[in-house]
Amino acid sequence: MKSSWPFLVFLFLLSGIQVFSQTAIELSIKDTSGPVISRNVYGHFSEDLGRCIYDGFWTGDRMRMDVVEALRKIKVPVLRWPGGCYADQYHWRDAIGPRDQRKKTVNTTWGMVTEDNSFGTHEFLELCDLLGCQPYIAGNVGTGTPEEMESWLEYLNFDGKSTLADMRRKNGREKPWNVSFWGVGNESWGCGGSMTPEYYAGEYNRYSEFCKNYPGSQLRLIASGANSDDYNWTDKVMKNIVRNRTWGISMHYYTLAGPWEHKGSATQFGEDDYFKAMVSCLKMEEIVSKHSAIMDKYDPKKRMALVVDEWGIWTDAEPGSKPGFLYQQNSLRDALIAGSTLNIFNNHTDRVKMANLAQTVNVLQALVLTDKDKMLLTPTYYIFDMYKVHQDAHSLAVHFTSPQYVHDGQKIAAVNASASRDSSGAIHISFVNIDPSKKITINAALPGIAFSTIHGQILTSSKFNDINTFDQPDKVKTAGFNGAKKTSAGLSVELPPMSVVVVELQK
Ligand code: AHR
Repeated sequence: MKSSWPFLVFLFLLSGIQVFSQTAIELSIKDTSGPVISRNVYGHFSEDLGRCIYDGFWTGDRMRMDVVEALRKIKVPVLRWPGGCYADQYHWRDAIGPRDQRKKTVNTTWGMVTEDNSFGTHEFLELCDLLGCQPYIAGNVGTGTPEEMESWLEYLNFDGKSTLADMRRKNGREKPWNVSFWGVGNESWGCGGSMTPEYYAGEYNRYSEFCKNYPGSQLRLIASGANSDDYNWTDKVMKNIVRNRTWGISMHYYTLAGPWEHKGSATQFGEDDYFKAMVSCLKMEEIVSKHSAIMDKYDPKKRMALVVDEWGIWTDAEPGSKPGFLYQQNSLRDALIAGSTLNIFNNHTDRVKMANLAQTVNVLQALVLTDKDKMLLTPTYYIFDMYKVHQDAHSLAVHFTSPQYVHDGQKIAAVNASASRDSSGAIHISFVNIDPSKKITINAALPGIAFSTIHGQILTSSKFNDINTFDQPDKVKTAGFNGAKKTSAGLSVELPPMSVVVVELQK
């Protein structure tokens, strides 16, 4: 008798490492609209740091239109600038007027490099116009004055006759910009001035007193918020600030957080590091819930926003890159982190009204990397492209018990999800399966949801540290997904290991 072993081995290889084992879970979604997922949850952050602005958005004396075009496609709703830590050393007057006459300063926060200030207020607001997004400016409390903040706002937002408004006109901008999102300092507990929450609250009250609403403009003031799980900061700031002039309070949380500790490589990592990063990423759920609960004490009607204006994975910088420039590559792991974090925000949309991934180009968890005139889109970029359907859609509650992803005796939820219904009635469900070896089948009950067509997109790859490079820019990118089927109860979806899937259901 002929041995069937070669054939069996062939079949095994054919089935591939994608499908080591399978699990099925039950999930249900009811079509009862929750609050709207603010488009601003899909916001970004562009600090004057490393090659984010210079080489990223701005080169020589021009905007990089390749970068702008890529970002227009994902509908960036809001962009934060000039920091970050740099905001508290930024003096706006240094970066207006003829570029060759602008002050040369030193970016002492990031790399001690000379800053020629060729990208300033006008350039940032032109960038926002090109992207079709709202600006979010972080004002300087650390080394600034209330006068400097007050006068910047007059320069930006006053339509009448004044020396500052005339200076704006002379510099090429007739009409005010009506900037609305305004941060009063950044990380005031650390690089923004090493303040206590009580001291910062006093500073916030003094500075914000002079942040005026000029006719036609309505400021949305954002107080400098906590570092990850520093709940005492949120409690004391919420208690002591003038809340009725405050739109939101921020919070920063980075996967593999603690900026100055050893975090590991962005590309050279095994399953131990992968698992550690996922544990760290999923902690966002607890952090957002706890800050939100503290805010409820002072703001039970949830009038104020929790603004997660810095988040993302922070790894060691790429070997050979300039110290202080925070340049890191971006892998499939980072895309799974982005998808999971955005699911958490979608599920907390009653409180999280804005979030800003750090940072758009060439810094930390970037969407775009550049190398001279070349540009590539990272795996994280594709998540924002797939998830843009959730912007301004009504959130829908998703109920399920996730199977566990078990590694070295530790367990975390393998699957996370969120769902929404948009203004056309289409329903979008985003799933992330972080398990590196299990395919997971979702059996979804969808009472009250009628649909006739299903479309889907998937982002996956064979290894969690797969990346896009300038030589191979399309290794990790979105593909059409046909693993979703209509069933008598609703829907079944097959999630490959390490995948992000967005399914669209239409009537
Ligand atoms: O995103 C890099 C830095 O991280 C920001 O400047 C600062 O706010 C945070 O510590």
